[in-house]
Amino acid sequence: MSLGISRLSSILLLAACAAAYTWPNPQLDELESLLYDQHGFNERGILAGALSPCNAFGFGSTVNRSNAADWIRTAYHDMATHNVEDGTGGLDASIQFEQDRPENAGDGFFNSLRHLQLGNSRYVGVADFIALGAKTAVEQCGGPHLPFRGGRVDATEAGVPGVPQPQESLDSHTASFARQGFNQTEMITLIACGHSFGGVQNSAFPQIVPLPDGVSDVSQTFDSTPFTFDNKIATEYIHGTTNNPLVVGHNDTTNSDKRIFGSDSNTTMSGFAADPASFRSACQSLLTRMLDTVPTTVQLTDVIDPLPVKPQEIALTYMGDGTFHLTGQIRFWNTAYSVSRSIKLLWADRDGKTDPAYSSVLGTNEQMGATALYDGTFDAQWYNIGPLSDNFTVIDAATGISKFWFEVDEGNATMEDQGGVGFAVQDVVMVANSSCVVQSTGTARIQIAVRADKTPSRVYIEYDLFAGSAGSGATWITVNTTDAHAAASQKRAGETYEFWTADLSSSALAHSINQRVNVAADIDGAKVSTSSFAPFDVALWPGC
Ligand code: HEM
Ligand SMILES: *[C@@H]1O[C@H](CO)[C@@H](O)[C@H](O)[C@H]1NC(C)=O
Ligand SMILES: *[C@@H]1O[C@H](CO)[C@@H](O)[C@H](O)[C@H]1NC(C)=O
Ligand SMILES: *[C@@H]1O[C@H](CO)[C@@H](O)[C@H](O)[C@H]1NC(C)=O
Ligand SMILES: *[C@@H]1O[C@H](CO)[C@@H](O)[C@H](O)[C@H]1NC(C)=O
Ligand SMILES: *[C@@H]1O[C@H](CO)[C@@H](O)[C@H](O)[C@H]1NC(C)=O
Ligand SMILES: *[C@@H]1O[C@H](CO)[C@@H](O)[C@H](O)[C@H]1NC(C)=O
Ligand SMILES: *[C@@H]1O[C@H](CO)[C@@H](O)[C@H](O)[C@H]1NC(C)=O
Ligand SMILES: *[C@@H]1O[C@H](CO)[C@@H](O)[C@H](O)[C@H]1NC(C)=O
Repeated sequence: MSLGISRLSSILLLAACAAAYTWPNPQLDELESLLYDQHGFNERGILAGALSPCNAFGFGSTVNRSNAADWIRTAYHDMATHNVEDGTGGLDASIQFEQDRPENAGDGFFNSLRHLQLGNSRYVGVADFIALGAKTAVEQCGGPHLPFRGGRVDATEAGVPGVPQPQESLDSHTASFARQGFNQTEMITLIACGHSFGGVQNSAFPQIVPLPDGVSDVSQTFDSTPFTFDNKIATEYIHGTTNNPLVVGHNDTTNSDKRIFGSDSNTTMSGFAADPASFRSACQSLLTRMLDTVPTTVQLTDVIDPLPVKPQEIALTYMGDGTFHLTGQIRFWNTAYSVSRSIKLLWADRDGKTDPAYSSVLGTNEQMGATALYDGTFDAQWYNIGPLSDNFTVIDAATGISKFWFEVDEGNATMEDQGGVGFAVQDVVMVANSSCVVQSTGTARIQIAVRADKTPSRVYIEYDLFAGSAGSGATWITVNTTDAHAAASQKRAGETYEFWTADLSSSALAHSINQRVNVAADIDGAKVSTSSFAPFDVALWPGC
C-alpha cells in the first residue's frame, strides 16, 4: 500500500514536471504572459486591470454589477451548449453569435466581450480570453486557483441553443446539465460557485426582480457578498437568510436555485455551508472543468505554469559593421530584489560551439513586476540584456548565435538553461538598423538582413489585423502580410547577410490591435520569423 502511494506521488511529480514547456513557443509564451505578467514592468493589464478592485464595472452605474460576475457568467453561457453525446459545443466563443437568444438575456455578454475580444491575436483567440477572464475573476476575487490550459478554438457560427433558464423544471435542468457533462451534485455545486458572484437585474429579468422607486435598474444579489468568492451563497441559503432572487423570488416558477439546491434534500448545500474549504475545493475542480469543456475536436495544452526564467522581446538587430545586437529582457519569476545577485548571459554560436568570449553581464537595473494570485503576490525581477550603459550584447555576425542561457550568482552559481536545452534564437532573419521612416508619407522602410547561406522563396512583414466589430457580433484575427523585395545592394562585399526591403504604410496598421509587426522568411518550406516590434516607434529608427 505504502509502495503504491509513493509510486503514485512520483507519477504526480513527473506529471507536474511534464507540464513545464520550453521557451520559445509563441502561443504558450503569450498565454504565460497574460496569466502571470499582471502588474508592473511589461504588464499585460487587460485582464487584471478590469478587476481592480473586484467591484469594478465598466458599463454604467447599476450598483452591485461587476466585470468579474459578467466574465464568469459569460464563460458559463458559452460552455453550456456543450453536448457530451456528440462532442459539439463548449467553451468556443460561439456566445459571440448567440447574444440575441432569450437564454442569453442581459447585456453582460456584450460588456464582457468588449473587454475580452480586445486582446486576441493570431496565437490566443476569443475563447481562450473568455476562459482567462473567468479564471482571473475567480482568482483575483477571493476564489481558488484554477489551473489554466490554452488552445481553445473560436467557433465561426452559433451553436445549438441550450443554456438553462430559470422557469424550466428541475427535470429539465438535470437533463440539461447531464448533456453538458455534469451530474446532479455537480449541477448544484457549479451553480453555487457561479452564483457566489453577482445577481439578477431588473432590466434583464423584470418578471423576477421588481424595480424599486427612483432607480432605472437594480441588481438583486445572490448573496450578501456579490464581489467575492465565499460560501455565503450556501450559508445564507441554509440559514434561511438569503435574498437570492432565484430562491426567494415572488414567482416560484422562476425559483430555479431553490429547486436545484433542494433537489438532494439540501445535502450538498448543507455540506458547503458547514465547510468553506470543501466549497472552495469543489469549485476549484468544477470551475476548472467548466473552462476546459470544449468541443472534442479541440486539444487543449498542458497546464501553463510560470516559467522560472523567461526571455521577453528578444531581438537581433543587424548593424552593418559585421555585428548584430541582441536585446530584450529576462524575467526571473518569484524572485526577490537583491543587489548581490549577478547574472551572466552565455551563448553558443550558430554551429553550437561555446567560447569564453561568448559571455555578457546583464544590466543590474532590476525592474519590478508582480502578479497577485490565489495564494499571494509573486515578485518578478526583470533584467535588461547587456550592460545598463547600452542594453545590448554584441554578437559577431560571422559566427552568429543559436541559443543562450544564464549563470546566476548570489555567492553560489546556478545555471538557468531550461534543463540543458538553452533558450533557442534564430539568426537567419532579422531587422537591420538601416531601417528608417519616410516621415512625409508615413512609411516604414524596413530593411531585413537574411543569412547569405539561405535561399528564401519569400521575405515579408506580418501583422495581426482585427476583423469584425468590437463589442457586438464576432471578432477574429487575420494575419496580413507585406512582401519585401531584394534590395538593390542586396549583397555587400564581405558580408554574411543579404538585404531585403519592405515598405509598410502606417495605414496598413489601421486595424491592428497593437501596431506591431514581425519579419518572416520562407526557407526550404519552413517559416523563420522574428519577435514583433512597433515599426512606427519614433525612438526606433531615424527619418530616411
Ligand atoms: C440552472 C442554471 C442557471 C440558471 C437558471 C441561472 C440563471 C441566472 C440568471 C437569471 C441570472 C441573472 C442575469 C442578469 O440579470 O443579467 C444569472 C446571473 C449569473 N449567473 Fe447564473 N444561472 C445558472 C447557472 C449558472 C452557472 C453554472 C454559473 C457559473 C458557474 C452562473 C453564473 C452566474 C453569474 C456570475 C451571474 C451574475 C451576473 C451579473 O451579476 O451580472 N450561473 N444566472
Ligand atoms: C456526481 O459525480 C461525483 C464524482 O464526480 C460523485 O462523487 C457524485 O456522487 C455524483 N453524484 C450523483 C448524484 O451521481
Ligand atoms: C447591493 O448588494 C448588497 C448585498 O446584497 C445589498 O446589501 C445592497 O443593498 C445592494 N445595493 C443596491 C443599491 O441594490
Ligand atoms: C410566473 O412566471 C412564469 C414564467 O415566467 C409565468 O409564465 C407566469 O405567468 C408567472 N406567474 C405570475 C403569477 O406572475
Ligand atoms: C433546504 O433548506 C432551506 C433553508 O433551511 C429550507 O427552507 C428548505 O425547505 C430546504 N429544502 C429541502 C428540500 O429540504
Ligand atoms: C547602424 O550601426 C552602425 C554600426 O554600429 C552605425 O555606424 C550606424 O550609424 C547605425 N545606423 C543607424 C541608422 O543607426
Ligand atoms: C537601459 O534600460 C534602462 C531601463 O530599462 C534605462 O533606464 C537606461 O537608460 C537604458 N540605457 C540606455 C543606454 O538606453
Ligand atoms: C544561491 O544563493 C541564494 C542567496 O543566498 C539562495 O537564495 C539560493 O537558494 C542559492 N541557490 C542554490 C542553488 O543554492
Ligand atoms: C493586406 O495587405 C495588402 C498589401 O500587402 C493590402 O492590399 C490589403 O488591403 C491589406 N488588407 C487589409 C484588410 O488591410
